[in-house]
Amino acid sequence: MTQDFEVSPYLLGPVIDNLAEQGWVVDRSLFTVEEIRLLREECLINWQQGKFHEAAVGRAAQQNRRSEIRSDSVLWLEPEQADSAASLYFSKLDAVRQAVNQAFYMGLEDLESHFAVYPQGAFYKKHLDRFRDDDARALTAVLYLNDDWPAEAGGEMRLYLDEEGERHVDVRPEAGTLALFLSDRFWHEVLPAGRQRLSITGWFRRRMATAAGW
Ligand code: OGA
Ligand code: MN
Repeated sequence: MTQDFEVSPYLLGPVIDNLAEQGWVVDRSLFTVEEIRLLREECLINWQQGKFHEAAVGRAAQQNRRSEIRSDSVLWLEPEQADSAASLYFSKLDAVRQAVNQAFYMGLEDLESHFAVYPQGAFYKKHLDRFRDDDARALTAVLYLNDDWPAEAGGEMRLYLDEEGERHVDVRPEAGTLALFLSDRFWHEVLPAGRQRLSITGWFRRRMATAAGW
């Protein structure tokens, strides 16, 4: 591919400002319609080829399939696959990573990501993205790939803004919407999707605090 994946600092400025102020941000300008179309096609081709598997809850050896908690299916992305649409995703998100590190000294080192498909009726109950035994996940990034998503299709990501769960924002999973939030601070859930719902979820990781002795 010959596109230029440079991300203008003018686009990243508001993202950084909002993260600094509130710990979360919803951006709609980092990805173009065409880029999202390429990512959606790649997601759907892999889905049709049966490459996804039902998502699990927990980490590594403790992983369990818990369909009462989440009912989506996922496919992990390989950053090395240079000729895939996913490579443009990784290069854009790397620009975000660098800007966040510059602004907050967060020491984000890498990004782990998967495509997710929520079949009609699928959901993900309220949770926090950080595992009990691993605090490497620092910043969550969810990018939505759905071409046309009317309000009545549901499937919003509900992001809780306080511990009590009294205030929240609902993020509609429309093409090109990117939600970023601090992984250890914001509880969130995916409300039941009224139609097939496509996304890429990524987690920027830093060295594990325990391992680094912080
Ligand atoms: C997740 C998640 C939110 C979404 O995968 O951990 O919370 O809107 N996804 O898909
Ligand atoms: Mn989550």
